[in-house]
Amino acid sequence: MDLETLLATYDRRVPRYTSYPTAPQFSPAVDAGRLRGWLGALADDTPLSLYLHVPFCAELCWFCGCHTTVAQRPEPLARYAAALLDEIDLLAGAIGRSLPVRHIHWGGGTPTALSPAWMIAIASRLRARFAQAPDAEVAVEVDPRTLTDAAADAMAAIGVTRASLGVQDFDPVVQAAVHRHQSFAVTEAAAQRLRARGIGGINLDLIYGLPHQTEAGVAETVARALSLGPDRVAVFGYAHVPWLKRHQKLLDEAALPGPPARFAQRAAAERVILAAGYEAVGLDHYALPEDSLAVAARAGRVRRNFQGYTTDTAPVLLGLGASSIGVLPDGYVQNETAIPAWHAALRDGRLPIARGVVLTAEDRLRRAVIEQVMCGGEVDLPAIAARHGMAADTLLDAGPALRAQAADGLIRWDGARLKVTARGRPFVRAVASAFDAYLRPDAVRHAAAI
Ligand SMILES: C[S@@+](CC[C@H](N)C(=O)[O-])C[C@H]1O[C@@H](n2cnc3c(N)ncnc32)[C@H](O)[C@@H]1O
Ligand code: SF4
Repeated sequence: MDLETLLATYDRRVPRYTSYPTAPQFSPAVDAGRLRGWLGALADDTPLSLYLHVPFCAELCWFCGCHTTVAQRPEPLARYAAALLDEIDLLAGAIGRSLPVRHIHWGGGTPTALSPAWMIAIASRLRARFAQAPDAEVAVEVDPRTLTDAAADAMAAIGVTRASLGVQDFDPVVQAAVHRHQSFAVTEAAAQRLRARGIGGINLDLIYGLPHQTEAGVAETVARALSLGPDRVAVFGYAHVPWLKRHQKLLDEAALPGPPARFAQRAAAERVILAAGYEAVGLDHYALPEDSLAVAARAGRVRRNFQGYTTDTAPVLLGLGASSIGVLPDGYVQNETAIPAWHAALRDGRLPIARGVVLTAEDRLRRAVIEQVMCGGEVDLPAIAARHGMAADTLLDAGPALRAQAADGLIRWDGARLKVTARGRPFVRAVASAFDAYLRPDAVRHAAAI
């Protein structure tokens, strides 16, 4: 099958599978009461991870698919930070014990939009309410354009170990088209600012598929990004979902690369990164061989969550902040998405849960299969079904799609073990979707798969 036909067949709109079931399956039937029940049932030594969402940025990038808003004054941020303290107290109270925490992720939006004093206050409250391990991984998403010395000082003070810097593309033509002006010097200075304070884990986020991007331009951006010596790089395909993110309509759609160009840009980025000695992790992450993510990938221990790929193996991830999602052994919960609704719940002393989903035994099996496909690109179906106490026949409905994918060279079988081939790796979301029992073509519109 030639590339064009392959793209026409498999570049379908499928979820990114940061969860399974995916967000469209969440319903208001799962509420704060349900979360309280789940929290109460956790064993006393259950390790937790925490995710804090800060939905504020100084200005909006037109490509942005994150849940964020523009805040140019400090007041909404201060109000939000104060409410986060309340949410930490409420959540810790609902758990009723001080459970161990080994991973904390501050995401957004731009978490460093909070003042340094608020960042420190929030981190102190977390330490007071949870048993944070002394060597806990604390990661923060950073916009290099707005990272001040004071913010970097605060990050060092709260024990940040890893920073994810948003770069996207260094080409001024692309930057103008997406309304994000960020010179190489600004990005370099941010990395230096963090390293000078002992924050050694540096991840750079790049995007392909933006207006006016070309294969050569993406390769050039990747090479410049690598010259900064990050230990991890993420290369995301631009998710164009203007029906969900209206500001994306500001982009010139005529300048968006089509599927073959996107495919070539992704391949060009990957070539440069692999040639520089990084190892591929999952669909869109790369890490130096000695980095913990690459080590975990080689050992088959990488997990997928809402932040992408992670070394975090905790069975419980609790989300704080508007729109954040929590993962528990029994299911998922999502906070109120709208900031006012999130505030209102906290003002009333309620956990701000808006929706969620209870996992069935079959969901758990499919979730495990999809996660293994997305992370390591292989899965032993009878073995994983047996571990879940189920018959492999439960997954029979995936058969027709898998047979077609095998015929098209995306996967191959090694006995009962499904393996995504090198040709299939860019299409791994399509492979995973074979196991998605809820996916209805065109019922929910996702971004293109590549
Ligand atoms: C929360 S932002 C990172 C921190 C900071 N706000 C910044 O932009 O520098 C997370 C990352 O998501 C990626 N991203 C945002 N919108 C996207 C989209 N529509 N498609 C693909 N990736 C996207 C970008 O690479 C971005 O750096
Ligand atoms: S990409 Fe980052 S800085 Fe830009 S709007 Fe989105 S969250 Fe904010």
